[in-house]
Amino acid sequence: MIGVDVDGNTVLLVNVDDHIYAYAEACPHQKSRLSEGSLTGKTLRCARHHWEFDVCAGRGVNPQNACLKALLVALESRDILLDLDHARSPEAAAERENQQ
Ligand code: FES
Repeated sequence: MIGVDVDGNTVLLVNVDDHIYAYAEACPHQKSRLSEGSLTGKTLRCARHHWEFDVCAGRGVNPQNACLKALLVALESRDILLDLDHARSPEAAAERENQQ
């Protein structure tokens, strides 16, 4: 899990079982940097107030109604390609999760 700056946007990249997920770096609670939190399996825990998220689905675990802002991401050879203009819907993330 790492936070990176891409064209002035801070992006969280997470690798879970060789699948890359990309999210806006800001916690939906109070905008803390998610990369400063911890990752256990597919559960990201925000360092500040300990909200937890399923990074494969982009949804909150605690609280469940929280949602990460998912970004479109693709791998091409060894490059990570990000589409910063189009967010990935939670439904698409859940569908991807179900396909794995
Ligand atoms: S800022 Fe992340 S849980 Fe509060």
